[in-house]
Amino acid sequence: GCVYLSWLIVPAVIISWLTRGAISYDSSDQTALYIRMLGDVRVRSQVGFEPERRSSHPYLCIDFRTLHSNSEPERRIQRLLSFQRYLHSSRLLRGIPQQIPLHILDEDYTGQARCMLEKVGHWNFDIFLFDKFTNGNSLINLTFHLLNQYGMVELFQLDMVKLWRFLVMVQEDYHSDNPYHNAVHAADVTQAMYCYMQEPMLAKSLTSFDILLGLLAAATHDLDHPGVNQPFLIKTDHYLATLYRNTSVLENHHWKSAVGLLRETGLFSHWPAEDSLNMERELGSLILATDISRQNDYLSRFRQHLDQESLCLSNGSHRHFILQMALKCADICNPCRPWELSKQWSEKVTEEFFQQGDVEKKHKLEVSPLCDREINSVGNIQIGFMTYVAEPLFAEWARFSDTRLSQTMLGHMRLNKASWGSLQQEQTLTSEEAETSNASTSREGAAAAPRGTSSKEIPQGSRES
Ligand SMILES: *[C@@H]1O[C@H](CO)[C@@H](O)[C@H](O)[C@H]1NC(C)=O
Ligand SMILES: *[C@@H]1O[C@H](CO)[C@@H](O)[C@H](O)[C@H]1NC(C)=O
Ligand SMILES: *[C@@H]1O[C@H](CO)[C@@H](O)[C@H](O)[C@H]1NC(C)=O
Ligand SMILES: *[C@@H]1O[C@H](CO)[C@@H](O)[C@H](O)[C@H]1NC(C)=O
Ligand SMILES: [Zn+2]
Repeated sequence: GCVYLSWLIVPAVIISWLTRGAISYDSSDQTALYIRMLGDVRVRSQVGFEPERRSSHPYLCIDFRTLHSNSEPERRIQRLLSFQRYLHSSRLLRGIPQQIPLHILDEDYTGQARCMLEKVGHWNFDIFLFDKFTNGNSLINLTFHLLNQYGMVELFQLDMVKLWRFLVMVQEDYHSDNPYHNAVHAADVTQAMYCYMQEPMLAKSLTSFDILLGLLAAATHDLDHPGVNQPFLIKTDHYLATLYRNTSVLENHHWKSAVGLLRETGLFSHWPAEDSLNMERELGSLILATDISRQNDYLSRFRQHLDQESLCLSNGSHRHFILQMALKCADICNPCRPWELSKQWSEKVTEEFFQQGDVEKKHKLEVSPLCDREINSVGNIQIGFMTYVAEPLFAEWARFSDTRLSQTMLGHMRLNKASWGSLQQEQTLTSEEAETSNASTSREGAAAAPRGTSSKEIPQGSRES
């Protein structure tokens, strides 16, 4: 889900959500397909379908696919162009003559992508590079590779054509113009999920069904994400907020979109109905677990199990709980990656927040917490997120799975936090210097520099959203 923002929501809200019972397992074919149509502009325009919009609220008509200024065909072209640009620049850098036919370079990239896949289980796997080598197809290629590596096609008698079609549609339904919630994030989460499922505790107890479920949930967990958060959808009376009654709105939509694609491609249509319904239901409970506003609930259950040593991974419902925790970790593992990767993710997620803030300002809506580029910085957002969300989760995960990977992740997080801290400090110093040097010309040095946020001003977990 849109993991970064809703952690500011007050606990009372979370408690009321828990007691209300957020999830409705509506599983009729029609519903799933209808929701897919609602959520997918291309389908809508193809069949000339225009959903009824009752509200007088003007923001209801915001087409989220155009939020970041590009329409669908333009985006396609842009992706192509940027890859051409990449080819061009790397060719120049490597001093290869321009005349070399493109297909040779293509093969070169395919070779490098294949080479990277040999280290797909390494924590420092560079998904951005892999995405370049696969021409923007990292999610398809990575997921396909992992499913094959586990022999899922044979085990579950999957139809290769259907599987490929499913993965292509999954990747296409991510919005490539979202700075953060796009198919590369999904690929990154899938890779992290794979790393966790390779950990001894899980590797020795997970069934093939668990693994298939875990990989599919990771690949689809943010499907058709609009690039804005739940509070935005609620305050703009978006139909998704109405449909899901203001509760895990995005996560419900990701899940229903995934179910829509499973049914549209018939990937599991050869299974007994009971089994494919079960897959859909469990997919839902994994994806819904990524709603960060429910983190405290999951975390206290996790703690309780660890304190009492009551986890028994031969029990299916316990394994399912661990898969939920693993997916939650995979979803927010950005701060635990090596600095060069982690930093890129931080910049991307912040840009998505700030773009939402810009839209809110433009439409005279209250600007959501963390979304105002005038008063926030990448660093203060990251430090807050690590302190209140990531550290508590990964500390428990390390208790559960006390391995080298867990220690590596905690180590990266400590270093990354320190790096953001010193960058913040530098910024504060620079802006103070600027102020002092102007002191003689400008009378009062004006207001304090807005970006020099110290750690004292980190957004508090209890702040109202
Ligand atoms: C990645 O996917 C593309 C199609 O999307 C395919 O042409 C290419 O061969 C794949 N590469 C690898 C390494 O599997
Ligand atoms: C969702 O939230 C909005 C704004 O707070 C409110 O007007 C609406 O009644 C809520 N809908 C439901 C079903 O709770
Ligand atoms: C599995 O665990 C759940 C919850 O702790 C429990 O209710 C159930 O009876 C267990 N099932 C088996 C087969 O032990
Ligand atoms: C300080 O001076 C610089 C240019 O020398 C200017 O850009 C900046 O706005 C000034 N700051 C204040 C607080 O007046
Ligand atoms: Zn996510």
